[in-house]
Amino acid sequence: MSPDDGPTRLVVVGQGYVGLPLALRAVEAGFDVVGFDLDGSRVKQLAAGTSYVEDISDEQLASVLASGRYEPTDDPERMAGFDVAVIDVPTPLAEGVPNLSYIEAAAACLARHLQPGGTVVLESTSYPGTTEELVGPILEEGSGLFAGSDFHLGYSPERIDPGNPDWRLENTPKVVSGIDGPSLEAVQHFYDRLVERTVPVSGTREAELTKLLENTFRHVNIALVNELAMFAAELDIDVWEAIDAATTKPFGYLRFTPGPGVGGHCLPIDPSYLSWKVRRTLGQPFRFVELANDVNEHMPDYVVRRLLLAFNRLGRTINGSRILLLGLAYKRNTGDAREAPGTVIAQALAALGAEVRVVDPHLSGDSVPYPLVELTAEELASAHGVVVVTDHDAFDYDLVRQHAAYVLDTRNRLSGPTVERL
Ligand SMILES: NC(=O)c1ccc[n+]([C@@H]2O[C@H](COP(=O)([O-])OP(=O)(O)OC[C@H]3O[C@@H](n4cnc5c(N)ncnc54)[C@H](O)[C@@H]3O)[C@@H](O)[C@H]2O)c1
Repeated sequence: MSPDDGPTRLVVVGQGYVGLPLALRAVEAGFDVVGFDLDGSRVKQLAAGTSYVEDISDEQLASVLASGRYEPTDDPERMAGFDVAVIDVPTPLAEGVPNLSYIEAAAACLARHLQPGGTVVLESTSYPGTTEELVGPILEEGSGLFAGSDFHLGYSPERIDPGNPDWRLENTPKVVSGIDGPSLEAVQHFYDRLVERTVPVSGTREAELTKLLENTFRHVNIALVNELAMFAAELDIDVWEAIDAATTKPFGYLRFTPGPGVGGHCLPIDPSYLSWKVRRTLGQPFRFVELANDVNEHMPDYVVRRLLLAFNRLGRTINGSRILLLGLAYKRNTGDAREAPGTVIAQALAALGAEVRVVDPHLSGDSVPYPLVELTAEELASAHGVVVVTDHDAFDYDLVRQHAAYVLDTRNRLSGPTVERL
């Protein structure tokens, strides 16, 4: 790499769904990368060439390790001498309030190794103002340097879509921002080396809001079709057919589909960062977000209610019945069960006295507190009810249709006399 290519030593703080793909892409692009994570067991796995992120194969990890330019570590001293650092740590909610302690800890750690001319980018999703009002001051205090005049600071939201083979880090446009002109230039220069297209915006608040807008848009539209699905079922109208028909409109319509609720690290959480900020700063409710939360959080209960009604018609009780859940991950073809609505459905059914069993080829037994079984004709035939919670492509839907006595399909993958759709 020529010296014109700019800085070469990168630290990525947090080696999860977002940080690990970024670290690996940066190695491919010629950086020396320190992948720092507090979780020592994750670091050991990475060093041994075992990936826990589904979109990263062991082969990809092995080749990056073999390059000698990727170092997974839990030793903060290895951050020393970085040119660019990116923060990819969790931003959960604690009882509805943003928990920024992970960002604070990451920034404090980086501050000790920040040098004049260095660049720090926050990628974790948070409310507008986090980069300037929280990360900047922590970096300044810990380093004795000034943001802007001594080091560059920016925000770039991550758009990674786990399980999507078409849109990857490098071909998804990346929004970039800085607290001032030179910071924006440094941040954009960094990402220009990793992705095909960067999209600069004028400030970090605009970039932070972009991410929340994208996720809130999705959250609200999913809530819209979820509520529509509940009314359509009452009115005996096929909502799925209406959605398919509406999707033929070539302009002014975007397809969203109903489901058992939203899950993962983004939709159940990110919009609340925005509504929290609006309420705290302006004293007003963000009604769309609150309504969408209300509808989407209700969906697992609705699925259980539909099952109760169906069993009632069949003359059975949930109590004492065996229910087989197909898919527990929140998203098709992934093994991510964080905030998954399937977990809420399973808990509710178990509380009603059902014997819950789960089929999910993307999850391991130790992560599922119910018997995790294979999808077989016997397993299907021995269940009193089957619920398609997550429509993984790996499932043999013909087998389900042939052997299940009753199926509640929340994803519109099946049809037939024994199948009811959401
Ligand atoms: N997963 C997604 O699809 C996605 C997409 C876009 C944005 N995001 C956002 O990106 C951020 C990271 O999400 P994720 O899904 O990668 O989370 P993750 O839980 O998969 O990974 C985060 C990692 O950070 C580590 N960590 C926590 N505190 C640390 C610290 N102080 N120093 C070093 N490591 C630390 C954890 O051990 C963990 O390995 C979140 O703000 C999330 O909202 C996630």
